[in-house]
Amino acid sequence: MKELIQTLIKQALASLVNENILPNDLNVTIQIDNTKDKSHGDFASNIALMLAKPANMKPRDLAEKLLASLPQHDEISKIEIAGPGFLNFFQNSQALATKLDEVLSDPRLLVTKTTPTQRVVIDMSSPNLAKEMHVGHLRSTIIGDAVGRVTEFLGDTVIRQNHVGDWGTQFGMLLAYMEEHPNHAENQLSDLENFYRAAKKRFDESPEFATKAREMVVKLQAGDKGCLTLWTKFNDISLGHCQQIYDRLDVKLTRQDVRGESAYNEDLPKIIETLKAKNMLSISDGAQCIFLDGFKNKEGEPLGMIVQKADGGYLYSTTDLAAIRYRNDVLKADRCLYFVDQRQSLHFDMLFVAARQAGFAKPALDLEHMGFGTMNGEDGKPFKTRDGGVVKLVDLLNDAEQKAYDLAKQLNPDMSDEECKKIAHAIGIGAVKYADLSKHRTSDYTFSFDNMLSLVGNTAPYLLYAYTRTAGVLRTANKTIEQLDGKIVLEAEQEKDLAAHLMLFTETLNSVSSKGLPHLLCNYLYELAKLFSTFYEECPVLKAQTTAQQQSRLRLTALTGRTLKQGLELLGLVPLERM
Ligand code: ARG
Repeated sequence: MKELIQTLIKQALASLVNENILPNDLNVTIQIDNTKDKSHGDFASNIALMLAKPANMKPRDLAEKLLASLPQHDEISKIEIAGPGFLNFFQNSQALATKLDEVLSDPRLLVTKTTPTQRVVIDMSSPNLAKEMHVGHLRSTIIGDAVGRVTEFLGDTVIRQNHVGDWGTQFGMLLAYMEEHPNHAENQLSDLENFYRAAKKRFDESPEFATKAREMVVKLQAGDKGCLTLWTKFNDISLGHCQQIYDRLDVKLTRQDVRGESAYNEDLPKIIETLKAKNMLSISDGAQCIFLDGFKNKEGEPLGMIVQKADGGYLYSTTDLAAIRYRNDVLKADRCLYFVDQRQSLHFDMLFVAARQAGFAKPALDLEHMGFGTMNGEDGKPFKTRDGGVVKLVDLLNDAEQKAYDLAKQLNPDMSDEECKKIAHAIGIGAVKYADLSKHRTSDYTFSFDNMLSLVGNTAPYLLYAYTRTAGVLRTANKTIEQLDGKIVLEAEQEKDLAAHLMLFTETLNSVSSKGLPHLLCNYLYELAKLFSTFYEECPVLKAQTTAQQQSRLRLTALTGRTLKQGLELLGLVPLERM
C-alpha cells in the first residue's frame, strides 16, 4: 500500500514539474507513515511540507495542487488535506478485505522480503567454554535466535556461528586439573563453575601445579596429542551443557553451528603476514598493533588494536579478523551480524575498519555489531545471586518453569500433570525469552519474574493466551482455517482497525531483520492482541447477525490467530492450542 501511494505521489509530482510548479531537479524521498488515529485516514505523507520551499508556495497550497494531480486508484477511497498540509490517504475497505482474504489463503501469509535475498551470518551465543554459560549469554542467544528466524523466514540464507571461546591460556589450568583427576572429569565438569574454581585454587596454591598449567598451554598450542585429547574431552562436555540449554530454550543452534576460536588457529600466522604485507602493523611495547585513523583514547593519543603479543601469542582480535575472512571467503556472506554485549562496541568498531583495510571483508559485506544492554536484577544492579555470584542459566530456567507450573495449576486445578508441565514450559521459558525480546535491544533491562509472568500487559502469557483464544473460537465454531467459507467484509471500526494492523506484518518482519530489533515484532503482536480483544468484545463472532457476517468474522479471527502464531514462533516461543 505504501508503495502504491509512493507511485501515485511520484506521478503527481511529475505532472507538477511539467506545469512548472515544481523545479525539475527534485531529489526527495517520499515518506509514507501509518496514521495513529484512523479518523485521519490510514496513511499520511508530509511531501507538501517537504517541497513547499523549492516550490516557493505555502505547504497547504502545494497540497491542493498535489491533490488535484493525484491519479485515482481503486484501493484508495479518499484523500484529504490536514493540518499545515499533510496528505491523508483512506484505504478502500473492500480492497483491504480482498487482500486479507488472499493473505489468509497463503500459509506464509504472503510475507516477502522487500530487498534482494542475501547470505546472512549470525554470530550468536558464543560463550566461553571454560566457564558455565551465564545470563550474559542469554541475551545474545535469544535475540540472535529471533533475528535469525525472522531473517530466514523472509527468504535469506542464515548461517549461525557459535564463536565459542575454546582456546586460550585458561585452558592450561583446566587441563592440568583434569589430568590430575583422571576419573572424575565427567562428574566434576557437570558443575563447570566449581571445576573452574577448584582448578584456580590449585593454581594459586601450588607453584608446581601453576608451572604444569603453563606447560600445558604450550603443549596444547604445539599440538601435543595427549593435551588435545584432554582438551577435546573438556570441550565436548562443556558444549554438551550448552546444547542442553539451547534445546531447553527452543533455540535453533546445534553442534554444527559451533565454530569456536580454536578453528582459526592455523589462520592466525597468515593474518599477521597479510597485515604486515599491507603495512598495517606497528610495534608498540614489543606487541604487534594496528593503529587506525580516527581511533583515539581519552587522552587523545592514537589507540591501537593488539594482534600479537610480545611473546608471540595471538588475541581475541586476531581470531575475529580470521573469522571475518572465513565468513567473507568461505561462507560467502553478504551480511554478518554480531550479537554481542554493547560493552564490546569499540572492539567491533576497530575490527570492522581493520578487516576492510586488510581486504578480509569485501566492500559490499555488511558488518554490523548488534550490541545489547545489561540484564539487571530488581535492585537495578547487574544480575547476581544472593551471595553475589553469577546467576546460572539452568537455575534461572528451573525457577521460571516452576513458577509457570504453579500458575498453570492455579488456573486449571483439574489439569493433568503432564499437560501442566507442557504449559509451564511454554509459559516459563517463553516468559524469560519474551521479557528480553520485548525491550529495545540496546537498553539495559530489569529481570523480574513477577513482571514477565503477568497475565496482563506486554508479556508472553498475555500473547500466548491471546493465541489460544483465537484457536478456541475456531474450535467452538467447529471449523479449521481450511474449512472457512465466505469472505472478509469490513464494516465496524474495530474490524477496520484490526484489518489495517494485520496488513503491517510483512513490513514489521522486514524491519526486525534489517535493524536486528525483535522488540518491533513484540510490539506489533501486542498491538494485534489488543486490537483483537477490542474487536472480539464489540463484534460478536459466534453470535453474529448473519451467516455472511459470521464467516467474515471467523476469517478475521483465523487470520489474527495465524499471524499471532507465526509471529510468536518467529520469536522462538511455543504457542499452544489450549492453556
Ligand atoms: N566469547 C565472547 C564473550 O563471551 C563473545 C564472542 C562474540 N563473538 C565474536 N565473534 N567476537 O565475551
